[in-house]
Amino acid sequence: MGKKIKRIGILTAGGDSPGLNAAIRGVGKTALGYYGMEIIGFRDGFRGLVENRRLKLDKTTLAGILTVGGTILGTSRDKPHRMVIDGRTCDMTATIVNNYKKWELDCLVCLGGGGTQKNALRLHQAGLNVITLPKTIDNDVALTDATFGFATALDIATDTLDRLHSTAHSHHRIIVAEIMGHRAGWLTLGSGIAGGADVILIPEIAYDVEKIANAIKLRSRHGTNFSIVAVAEGAMSRDDARSLAAAEKKLERAKNLHDKKEAKHELAALEVRHQGNTMRLAKQLEELTHLESRVTILGYVQRGGTPCAADRVLATRLGSACADLINEGHFGVMVAARGDGTEPVPLEKVAGKRKVVPPDHSWIKTARRVGTCLGD
Ligand code: F6P
Repeated sequence: MGKKIKRIGILTAGGDSPGLNAAIRGVGKTALGYYGMEIIGFRDGFRGLVENRRLKLDKTTLAGILTVGGTILGTSRDKPHRMVIDGRTCDMTATIVNNYKKWELDCLVCLGGGGTQKNALRLHQAGLNVITLPKTIDNDVALTDATFGFATALDIATDTLDRLHSTAHSHHRIIVAEIMGHRAGWLTLGSGIAGGADVILIPEIAYDVEKIANAIKLRSRHGTNFSIVAVAEGAMSRDDARSLAAAEKKLERAKNLHDKKEAKHELAALEVRHQGNTMRLAKQLEELTHLESRVTILGYVQRGGTPCAADRVLATRLGSACADLINEGHFGVMVAARGDGTEPVPLEKVAGKRKVVPPDHSWIKTARRVGTCLGD
């Protein structure tokens, strides 16, 4: 029988997402009420653990947060090994390890997306008892069926596409709606199907603008002279995808500092160029189809507000299962959603991986079968 767990530290890191508070409550209520543990929240991600900024989580602080968006702990994208302190980038891993000991923590729970899984693994390798939960509206954390935040964002994006339909229809316009997701297209694909988008563009499928224009012109010929184009932040044309792949290869093959710097410079320039991609796409479609085009960027609306019921259930059950694993002394794992249950997955297997939409995924097949243009 291992040492009885007494005190848990918990933090939220990376971009916020609906369901974080439900997860904090799920861990907290099970740990406090069911196992009689103590729980301390650290503010603003890993930075709170460096700067000793805490919030004691008890019955009162955990009450009334299930339905609240964002995170009561605050969050940041700070990495333990590359944190800006007084204008300098420092490795704060040792400070975190010391503070973990100072606060007599028996384990640290990190709620986050792909980046957080990597950072959590580093801390686990530095000797801490770490356990993580998968959150992100992007749904791109590897080896879990789902991440909390995604279902809510899917509802928000779908509702927006519904609203855009009526105005696009009235004005006979193309409306290009930009949806979050730099590397994974789950949110755009899911909301595009649910919201009946005519064109869905995701990072996993490079598009040809002529093909999109032809699909829109075909709709016009059949008497439907409006179209909704759902485009992921990270979707790109075939030309841009080729340039990106070439720059990434250059970086991979760089033999010296000079080559590395040059390749990084190229990648940064491509990233800057990509920032105007949705506007450029709308303009190109207007020119090619002679239909008026407008852009709507959904932005942070997708991450805000009350979590939907599905996210509340998912976050609560993952949080509660997390407390069970802590009680069993099972660390170095992410609590993954697996069907109706949960499964501990070693952090080594999750860190550095990304779950993107596979080309043969049923959502892709479904979209194509109902006549949606995917740009290829
Ligand atoms: O990872 C979630 C996410 O919302 C992405 O979809 C988006 O590209 C990114 O975060 C935005 O990050 P930030 O909050 O740092 O602007």
